[in-house]
Amino acid sequence: MGTIGILVDLDVFRNIKSGKTGNEKLEYYNRAAVKQGLTPVYLCLERMQLSKKAAYGYKYRNGSYVYNKYAIPKVIHNRAMPFSKELQQKLEKLSRRYEVFNSCTRYSKYRIHRILEKRFMEHLPTTKGYGRQRLRDMMKSFKSLYIKPQSSSIGKGIIKIARQSDRLWKIQLPHKTKVMTQSRTEKTVDQYVKSKDYIIQEAIPLADYQGKPYDVRVSVQRGADGQWQMTGMYGKVARKGSHVTNVARRGTVKKCSVLFSHSFQNPGQVAAEVQRVSLQMTQYLGEQLKNLADVGLDIGVDRSGKPYFIEMNGRDQRYGFKKAKMKKTFYRTYENPILYAKYIQQSSGTQHGGNLGRLNGMRKRKTVWPNLDRRSRLKTQLGSYKNRMVSSSQFSTTRFSVIKNERKR
Ligand SMILES: Nc1ncnc2c1ncn2[C@@H]1O[C@H](COP(=O)(O)OP(=O)(O)O)[C@@H](O)[C@H]1O
Ligand SMILES: [Mg+2]
Repeated sequence: MGTIGILVDLDVFRNIKSGKTGNEKLEYYNRAAVKQGLTPVYLCLERMQLSKKAAYGYKYRNGSYVYNKYAIPKVIHNRAMPFSKELQQKLEKLSRRYEVFNSCTRYSKYRIHRILEKRFMEHLPTTKGYGRQRLRDMMKSFKSLYIKPQSSSIGKGIIKIARQSDRLWKIQLPHKTKVMTQSRTEKTVDQYVKSKDYIIQEAIPLADYQGKPYDVRVSVQRGADGQWQMTGMYGKVARKGSHVTNVARRGTVKKCSVLFSHSFQNPGQVAAEVQRVSLQMTQYLGEQLKNLADVGLDIGVDRSGKPYFIEMNGRDQRYGFKKAKMKKTFYRTYENPILYAKYIQQSSGTQHGGNLGRLNGMRKRKTVWPNLDRRSRLKTQLGSYKNRMVSSSQFSTTRFSVIKNERKR
């Protein structure tokens, strides 16, 4: 019976016994792991002794947690988001020595945008790094803009400006909305941003539900066969008058079927397009970013039903599925990382000393996935699946090269 490490932040770790783990529904990991014959061990960076290859943690066994010092498991699902340099370095070190997936949970918005620009220009709002002159230029080219921090989340510090007339702009700051002249708007934004790291982004004219704009959270994860899959999606509807849809900013959640049939003649097609774009973008990002395995995309859909990428979350807060009453999907967002962990564990098995870690850092091989249509993609998937089912005489070479390519993707 294998052991799977689940790395969480200290505040979650401290509350494991009391069960008050906030948005992290650990019992779902436990249920999924038990079903797979695996034992989860919850860890945090603060209680880890890398030099001793050991950590204090909570092992879930026979329905309860046992706190003890354990050997650090070979495969670790990362759900932590360390803020201090020291802990970030510790996590980096950990992921060099063990099979940590999703080791990075926070990416700069601009970095992700620049990667996607190479392939998905059509589905990206124009985006630039913040600068006063750039703001002025963008205000000339677009009727409405978002000015957003590079790396924060939950809608924090986001400004929206929208042209009202030749002279006037409406400016939505996190806690107030005003109408001002162009130069005053520029100055106010500049003062707000100060020296912080911001981007300026064209506003997507989002589809709305009863007059309130919405966007879509799409969970894309690697699963039992190591391949990316779309686990589910739900809509986030902005609070009345708000320019952000984040649930943390009192946005509400709704099933996409409700929202899309409210907004579009062809709701099924819009959903399929959101799914296609999300999957292809994540597959591509997975080729470029080390050990990416579990993300939540924010996808905006404009009034014609066309999807646009807004951001990628490296630690998807999955509880929106619960709020949208999508209990099965909510569970599956926890089950998939467990299945993927099992897949890595089996793939890196005994033949190769169990260490595929180095492959994580290797130059990634480019694939042609984003340009394939659904049928040929399915065929490719089937092909690689068949390759994994080769007879034992071919096992070591074929299996290893297939795994190698998959891990590199
Ligand atoms: N370019 C944009 N066009 C339309 N809406 C946007 C845009 N950028 C952000 N938003 C709105 O603001 C919300 C928060 O922005 P996002 O980039 O996801 O930052 P955060 O990391 O804070 O969630 C989005 O979910 C969306 O509702
Ligand atoms: Mg967001």
